[in-house]
Amino acid sequence: MVDVKTEKASLTTGNDQKSTQSPRPDSFSLAHLSDLHLTSLNDVKIPQLLNKRILGYCSWLHKRRVVHRREIIASLVEDLRITRPEHIAVTGDLTHLGLPMEYAEVEQWLPSLGDPQQVTVIPGNHDAYAGRNWFKSCAKWAPYLESDTTLDLPGTADFFPSLRIRGQIALIGLSSARPSPPLFATGSLGQEQLVGLETLLQKTGDKGLLRVVMVHHPPVPGIVNWRKCLTDSKSFAAVLARHGAELVLHGHSHTPTVSELQTPAGKIPVVGAPSASELNPQAGRSAQYNIYRMSRKGKNWELTMSVRSYSEDQGRFVSESERSFKLP
Ligand SMILES: [Fe+2]
Ligand SMILES: [Fe+2]
Repeated sequence: MVDVKTEKASLTTGNDQKSTQSPRPDSFSLAHLSDLHLTSLNDVKIPQLLNKRILGYCSWLHKRRVVHRREIIASLVEDLRITRPEHIAVTGDLTHLGLPMEYAEVEQWLPSLGDPQQVTVIPGNHDAYAGRNWFKSCAKWAPYLESDTTLDLPGTADFFPSLRIRGQIALIGLSSARPSPPLFATGSLGQEQLVGLETLLQKTGDKGLLRVVMVHHPPVPGIVNWRKCLTDSKSFAAVLARHGAELVLHGHSHTPTVSELQTPAGKIPVVGAPSASELNPQAGRSAQYNIYRMSRKGKNWELTMSVRSYSEDQGRFVSESERSFKLP
């Protein structure tokens, strides 16, 4: 484990929700949300469920009343208005089946989080659930996916790897979203994207930026089983071992996890956020999201993470815990 301090905070009311926004150029606050699965399938038509989607639809029918709840998503948006992170990273699985009507629903919803300058999105496996045309649908979210930097970078066939620079922070987005066979939820990055990642890490590292890499699937072993894994995680780890990174954020497992990637320069924290909309007491799951504060102290960066959890009793998100990380 890479954390050097873990401090459990009690659930509090009202006053715990102070702003994390800072005008200081040497500090930055970043919220990490994942696996919202926010779309409704109430109006889906049977012909849309051919292939693997029929299984996903049955799963949604089974879980819809108790798992991903609309009122939690509304509370999440409200909480982000109070905590006011400077940027929001959303690491995929915004939909259930990756249907065009779901992409349209998410397109309508994203502005409630903020404009594309303040919000960066990458897709998850549910956003590329089946078929070959998911990438065309993905274009609906283009303003939230695409790079907006002026760095001299090689072009890529699609949006990824993406790069956004905010102050001294480089936000690098990857897509591990690929259609997979029934009963599988694997992901992969592919050689072209890994080559692009290598270039981005090198250039942003040379500039001394704090590099945050976002990927939907956990890039370290032991978090999900082989049917849900990132198939080229070893290649990903090799790229980070060569060029470094300061933080890796992922989703997909629907559980909060903290692990690390060992590199010659030190251990890179790898933090998984659970679903930000899920309330499933039977599975011991409660919606959460994390807010990172990054502060430069001389040549070094300090990184703290605040966990905010949904309290069913209070009907809102509250502060749950805080921990700090030692960066490579
Ligand atoms: Fe998910
Ligand atoms: Fe996923």
